[in-house]
Amino acid sequence: MTTPQSYSEKYLHLGEKIDMDAHVLCVYKIKSSQMSMKEAAAAIATEQSTGTWTEVSTLKEENFLKRSGKVIDIKDNMATIAFPVEDFSLDIGGVPQILSVIAGNLFGLESIEGVRVEDVIFPKSMMREFKGPKFGVEGLRNILKRPDRPLVGTIVKPKIGLSPEETASYVYEAGMGGLTNGKDDETLSNQKFCPLEERVVAIADALDRVKQDSGHIMIHAINVSTNGHQILEVAERAQELGATQLMVDVLTCGFGAVQVLAEDPSIKLPVHVHRTMHAAMTRNKDHGISMKVFAKLVRMCGGDALHIGTFGVGKMKGEATHDLAYRDVCLTKDMPYKPVMPVASGGLQPGMIPALIHIAGKDLQCQAGGGVSGHPRGVRGGAMAMSQAVEAGYLGMTAEEYAKDHVELREALQKWGSA
Ligand code: 3PG
Ligand code: 3PG
Ligand code: MG
Repeated sequence: MTTPQSYSEKYLHLGEKIDMDAHVLCVYKIKSSQMSMKEAAAAIATEQSTGTWTEVSTLKEENFLKRSGKVIDIKDNMATIAFPVEDFSLDIGGVPQILSVIAGNLFGLESIEGVRVEDVIFPKSMMREFKGPKFGVEGLRNILKRPDRPLVGTIVKPKIGLSPEETASYVYEAGMGGLTNGKDDETLSNQKFCPLEERVVAIADALDRVKQDSGHIMIHAINVSTNGHQILEVAERAQELGATQLMVDVLTCGFGAVQVLAEDPSIKLPVHVHRTMHAAMTRNKDHGISMKVFAKLVRMCGGDALHIGTFGVGKMKGEATHDLAYRDVCLTKDMPYKPVMPVASGGLQPGMIPALIHIAGKDLQCQAGGGVSGHPRGVRGGAMAMSQAVEAGYLGMTAEEYAKDHVELREALQKWGSA
């Protein structure tokens, strides 16, 4: 069923000037063999605001004028639609409701084969309703007493199966090797082999021992991803038992999970945001939602660190130019919040790190799981190699140059090569 063109035409306002303070602007990439771009964009504006597939007797002129989405621009296969601020409900509704407007039913419209939300621009009045990160880049740097260098971390591997003691011993070795950040993997929760409470206690002890034995500060993100009604309680319990950071999977838990951890006054820890499942929505170039949109929402909701990809290196799909755009969302001064620490993670190993830092800059958390624990000398050697690689990148040296007098990095290069 297609929306009749004559009806939807009312939603076309091409070239009209829009009050940017009174609208949310959304950019869609559209693919339709049945409709012209004008028809397709108008059908989206219709469905996502005051219309449906047919004209309805209950849509009064005043409602239409005040609350309809307006197609204000079409360039090639890109259309910009402006949704009036009044269409949104932030006190009850929040990000779930925002997504329902800008990225809801439109994906299923039969006559549009592909549509991808490429960007969203929120007016200042709406952005002010969100608090953003409590810690962000500077807050994390302050905790770690690391003012300038990229952060360097690990994901405990194997991702499941280690006991709390084995996990803590991994973290201790990683800290002694110079890493600043550890984290649970996205599938680790409260399984019998590694109960969350025992893990938190064992890791807290390991981090204390790292500090005592070497003076080095490291934090570790505990995965508190869970059902909505439990997350605050689980996070509070983890905090009480000595957690130094929390991790949440934003797309499986929802944006509200990030927001509650960032905004609830009882939680005083930084929030590390993983994006597991994102590729189901971000990977297809013709259909889905850009990571840029998710990154903006995570920053508004208060994530302190966010996985954004590995800038074209590593095991996960991604292109440097795209990941740079996501990094810019994390750091831009155009948003009225603290900057979010961009995290590069997935298939990284020491030999890739100098090139990564060269592309992404020093406000970056580089992480490796296999690239640490797969090192010939084990976790400590891998952590040392990662730390050396970060130092090389920070100093503008190549991995090979720095490896000349750093044996752990040299051995990593022998095993995995460089980027
Ligand atoms: C992992 O869990 O392997 C990675 O963090 C996934 O990387 P992505 O954030 O690029 O999907
Ligand atoms: C992550 O969650 O970021 C990862 O699991 C990355 O793991 P890897 O470095 O072994 O790919
Ligand atoms: Mg992982």
